[in-house]
Amino acid sequence: MFVKDQHAFDPSDPAFLEDPYPALNGLRERARVFYDERRERWFVTRHEDVRACLRDKRLGRNFRHLMTPEEIGVPELDQRWSAFWATERWSLLWLEPPDHTRIRKLVASAFTPRSVEALREPARALARELLEPLGEAGRMELLYDYAQPYSIAVICRMLGVPLDRHRDLLDWSHRMVKMYEFDVPEDNAVAANRAAAEFTEYVRALIADRRARPRDDMVSALVGARVDGERLSDDEIVSTVIVLLNAGHEASVNTLGNGMLAFARHPEQWTRVVDGDVPAVKAGEELIRYDPPLQLFERWVLADGFSIGGLPIPRGQKLALLFGAANRDPRVFERPDEFDVGRENASQHIGFGGGIHVCIGAPLARIELEASLDALRSCWPAFELGSEPRRTGAFVIWGLEGLELQTPAVGSSASETSTRRGLDPS
Ligand code: HEM
Repeated sequence: MFVKDQHAFDPSDPAFLEDPYPALNGLRERARVFYDERRERWFVTRHEDVRACLRDKRLGRNFRHLMTPEEIGVPELDQRWSAFWATERWSLLWLEPPDHTRIRKLVASAFTPRSVEALREPARALARELLEPLGEAGRMELLYDYAQPYSIAVICRMLGVPLDRHRDLLDWSHRMVKMYEFDVPEDNAVAANRAAAEFTEYVRALIADRRARPRDDMVSALVGARVDGERLSDDEIVSTVIVLLNAGHEASVNTLGNGMLAFARHPEQWTRVVDGDVPAVKAGEELIRYDPPLQLFERWVLADGFSIGGLPIPRGQKLALLFGAANRDPRVFERPDEFDVGRENASQHIGFGGGIHVCIGAPLARIELEASLDALRSCWPAFELGSEPRRTGAFVIWGLEGLELQTPAVGSSASETSTRRGLDPS
């Protein structure tokens, strides 16, 4: 049931990255949890255990509120990347209660069902506005031309962040999220740190502007908010805005890219969506289950007495929860390797996490995905791949470099560059 196997899993192996699911399936069936000596962490593979870990209060995304790095034998944060760590310091994804509870409550007050619902029509209109001309052109690079400008526009609208710098926002975000991978090369850390510094400066200017001239938007709300009589500090607002902007598009973009690739490989499933046999909202859940945009999240063991299936895992140890393995667990999903957009229980996927860190943007992500699939099915009822897509080389943030799509009538002249319309200010 348990293996202690340092060679069990190598997410940097190109063969693994080509298609990780056979390896993830094998690991899950051999062991519900295994220790990787090279990476010094326990990998959790099965749906039931991943789900339980996400909700277990003895586990946390951080340990620093309870233990020192020295106490548990991990290095201090590398101060060469201090600008990056400063943006993490007050991020919801870095915090545990009580700080997490305090800031999450404030952010949640902006993500009420009513305020998210108010974005539904604008999200639908924007999807059509972007996709119709691309459909007429007959070809597009889905991520660059559509998914990135689309998702960034939706989250910027919610936050009240102007769109003129949207390519900078994407660039900062892409560089920063590389820090969540295993074995971060120094070049990537330098780039992430520089991105964090620039992003911080940008958000600080935005905060100053909203403080002087408040508007009806989330940045102004965060600037004006009081919790128990206390205002949020500028550092707290910077981290919150950055995590919302970054989390608010990276996963949504990759869900659509991974999903449309799955449709390209299974055109009969696309036909079910195009014909209206399966509503877009339902198909969206299968997209997240079948090829999730986030493959792994980590937790620290914060208390004594923690175990998985009877195996004790000591305080101070690190767990990595394998979402992709859990989403293909045959104990929960029948024929789990089949892409079936009509799957009845697809929404039991782990894709949005669970427990106190459960994705706060999930209702918005669902609206975006539904709007995109609906617009795609009317503007792109038939499509084929313009070229064979490549994975980014990252595992945790799981996506494609790009996805060239074309309408079949255009033929095979896919080598020309795509239309690059998107929301480019030019
Ligand atoms: C399909 C798209 C998305 C997926 C699959 C996704 C997935 C996730 C997951 C798995 C977590 C939990 C991480 C953990 O437990 O360690 C999370 C947290 C979070 N997500 Fe999403 N997300 C998506 C879209 C969004 C959007 C659109 C937003 C913002 C509008 C957003 C904002 C956040 C934030 C702020 C957190 C941190 C919450 C906390 O720590 O309390 N996400 N997301």
